[in-house]
Amino acid sequence: MARVRAPASRGPKPGPIREERLARDGRRSRPSRAAVNPLREGLRLERVPAPHTMVLFGATGDLSHRKVFPALAQLWRTNLLPAEWHLVAVARRPYDDASFRAEVGAALERHSRVPLEPEVARQFLERISYHRGDFSEEAAYDRLAERVADHGREHGGVANVLFYLAAQPSAFPTIVAQLGRCGLDHEVHGGGWRRIVIEKPFGRDLESARRLNREVGRVFREAQVYRIDHYLGKETVRNLLVFRFGNGIFEPIWTRQYVDHVQITVAESIGVEDRGMFYEETGAARDVLQNHMLQLLSLVAMEPPAAFAADPLRDEKVKVLRSIAPPARGRMSRDVVRGQYGPGWVEGVAVPGYRQEPEVDPDSETETYVACRLEVDNWRWSGVPFYLRHGKRLPKRATEIAIQFRDVPHRLFAEAETDPQPNLLAIRIQPDEGILLRFGSKVPGLGFDIRTVTMDFTYGSSFAADAPDAYETLLLDAMLGDASLFTRADEVEAAWSIVTPILDTWLDAPPPEFPNYEAGSWGPESAEALLARDDRRWRRL
Ligand code: BG6
Repeated sequence: MARVRAPASRGPKPGPIREERLARDGRRSRPSRAAVNPLREGLRLERVPAPHTMVLFGATGDLSHRKVFPALAQLWRTNLLPAEWHLVAVARRPYDDASFRAEVGAALERHSRVPLEPEVARQFLERISYHRGDFSEEAAYDRLAERVADHGREHGGVANVLFYLAAQPSAFPTIVAQLGRCGLDHEVHGGGWRRIVIEKPFGRDLESARRLNREVGRVFREAQVYRIDHYLGKETVRNLLVFRFGNGIFEPIWTRQYVDHVQITVAESIGVEDRGMFYEETGAARDVLQNHMLQLLSLVAMEPPAAFAADPLRDEKVKVLRSIAPPARGRMSRDVVRGQYGPGWVEGVAVPGYRQEPEVDPDSETETYVACRLEVDNWRWSGVPFYLRHGKRLPKRATEIAIQFRDVPHRLFAEAETDPQPNLLAIRIQPDEGILLRFGSKVPGLGFDIRTVTMDFTYGSSFAADAPDAYETLLLDAMLGDASLFTRADEVEAAWSIVTPILDTWLDAPPPEFPNYEAGSWGPESAEALLARDDRRWRRL
């Protein structure tokens, strides 16, 4: 994953002619903020992927419009896509190239991180063509195979193809099987790479994830498969690796001897928005705990990898997940809490309860909140609880990892008026991205009173550059063939092995009285009890 890259051997070469062309076509008409930021110099030499065709399934869907196209457009704007790049958008709706480009153009206006200059947007859209077809229709794939081959021929025999599955998950097996039937997975015929990016959710339990892995594995080799968890593309999440393994002072205390417990919070103030139908089938445990939260946990708890590369990194994350036993059936009701929001007030606005949301069953038993206590049973972490909580319609949006250190072994300043709280390291993933260290300090004066103070690092004040969106990072990595920030088959299965027993128990046990928390509160009371039993409290965010 090393982001300091040598210039690509293939793809457009930097240099005066390319610079001149880029300036002419508007892509470098104005230096970007990052380009003039001296702090960035030497930190990252971007590499441009080899020329390729991207094939996007589910191109008319919400994810494509909100995330995928805007991210691609940013890559194009900042010259990170090769000039020979093309995208074939596959979906069922009756568009032609012109009407689909207009639709994508409108999406870019709504969702772009940095607005595109009209000329840059025009050139980007020109590279998109629409391919209408039903995912189950064989002929559509035959036509697609011809189209991909034509693109390749038009661009000097380029045979590299990046498939991206942003369609509904039930279509994944059919699409993969059809790509295999047409030989579109073959890297041998004419050379060039073939890769497939698969969106979440990857299965809905251990069994279905295994089945999907088998189905994908029948067509693509594991090295060709890029399973997305967009949390791994977030700047602050990637920084976890640098923070832990690029500094000398934290690793020695990153153990059971010094850490009392870890809290991971993914709080959202939004409800289910217009995704009621999806969420009814999903719930908080499948939607966020199984993937984003367990990924954060494994990055916090993993051992230093043997090398900074995809497999050594993922080997260590898998080991963490395999060291976590799901809560025992008898302890499930103690160690796992589920909740569902009722009506309430969030950020000063009255909001409906989950059961009143569009497309939600008025008697729904789907959880919109989950909290649990997990233990990583290995030498480093044995006996250190990891408390995880995630919910919708909480008072604010805040994702944070808090490492709570043990208290001092002996209180020297017992007479002090104010006792310090134990040290804490809070890694703010979003918003207000940064890292905070809490420690005790003597209050100025004649006595030895201690007050808790903080040292605070914020990205905003330390770096003038805007962080890329997670999708920009991940798309570029997939194009470059770097799978470090994508989940491997065994990793996905290990995560499901933790969450599936929880889901199974919920299936058997009568649900708690839902709704059991008010929108705008910090979740059900039983979540407070989960920590209170261990004589601890959730951090107030
Ligand atoms: C998605 C979930 O994977 O992550 C959503 O499906 C959730 O329900 C979202 O809102 C959170 O992502 P972010 O980047 O906004 O924290």
